[in-house]
Amino acid sequence: MTAARLVPFGPAAVEEAARLIRAGQPVAIPSETVYGLAADATSGEAVAAIYAAKGRPSFNPLIVHVADRAMAGALALFPPLAERLAERFWPGPLTLVLPAHRDSPVAPLATAGLPTVALRCPAHPAMQAVIAASGRPLAAPSANRSGSISPTTAAHVLSTLGERIPLVVDGGATPQGLESTIVAVDGDRLRLLRPGPVTVDAIREVSGMNVTVTSGGAVEAPGQLASHYCPDKPVRINVADPRPDEYLIGFGAMACDANLSPSGDLREAAANLFAALHVADAGHRPSIAVAPVPQKGLGLAINDRLARAAVSAQ
Ligand code: TXA
Ligand code: MG
Repeated sequence: MTAARLVPFGPAAVEEAARLIRAGQPVAIPSETVYGLAADATSGEAVAAIYAAKGRPSFNPLIVHVADRAMAGALALFPPLAERLAERFWPGPLTLVLPAHRDSPVAPLATAGLPTVALRCPAHPAMQAVIAASGRPLAAPSANRSGSISPTTAAHVLSTLGERIPLVVDGGATPQGLESTIVAVDGDRLRLLRPGPVTVDAIREVSGMNVTVTSGGAVEAPGQLASHYCPDKPVRINVADPRPDEYLIGFGAMACDANLSPSGDLREAAANLFAALHVADAGHRPSIAVAPVPQKGLGLAINDRLARAAVSAQ
């Protein structure tokens, strides 16, 4: 890919960003917290393109950005406590982790196969305008290469992703510069998963609730989150010799029950991964086998998730 185009926030930038997002590409857009690398949350391939650009070694669940409470309501259930928090803090830098609707259109890759979804309604006019213009909920982690610092200017984004994405919408420096506060709402309980611009005291005041802080306020480890996804059946990975009673998930040209990517495209395979595991788990075969996936590029993240699926099923 050629270098990213840097376009100042305005109607032309918004239109270009929305066009790219509808075409399945990730685009850097400012929010009030940090620049996000945004893509269509309802497309597994578009979400896979985010992971590919960031070079993430594993599939963290991502935050899904919505225009308003109505768009959020199509994706998740809102217990009364969540309702109160959204009313007070949205639009703004608060992310709510909520039970996902059974028929939610969000791609399983965006939630790492979890039954919950992290939703945020951003206050920044650029992110709001692109959600409206694209008509999609947007999955958007911070717009930086994995392992580097979160970007608060367009120049930060260019320094690590400039060669890997088509467009940066330049809205100047982000006002908050710190990623959103993340709170999980479990019925009538609140857990702080990541401290951020909305303080625990403010959340306590509005909710009238105590807020459990997970391990000193640290981010809930992706590994712990990933282990929530447990296929009920035994899973064998790197399988070259499947048994007749196994449901075989293939990769590349081969005979199998479901193929992550017949052409051997890792991006396509990442997009299909969680859906394939769900189908295998729901089928009548008692166990699951997965063909080898190359340990390079997005294959590292795919194999990381497969290894967790294999371990958690034991
Ligand atoms: O400020 C922000 O929130 C920025 C801007 C771009 O909006 N976005 C951001 O997104 O930081 P992201 O995708 O990097 O945040 C991912 C984190 C995960 O590491 C995890 O801590 C939490 O959100 N998360 C997402 N889905 C979750 C879920 N279903 N359950 C628990 N935690 C979840
Ligand atoms: Mg980040």
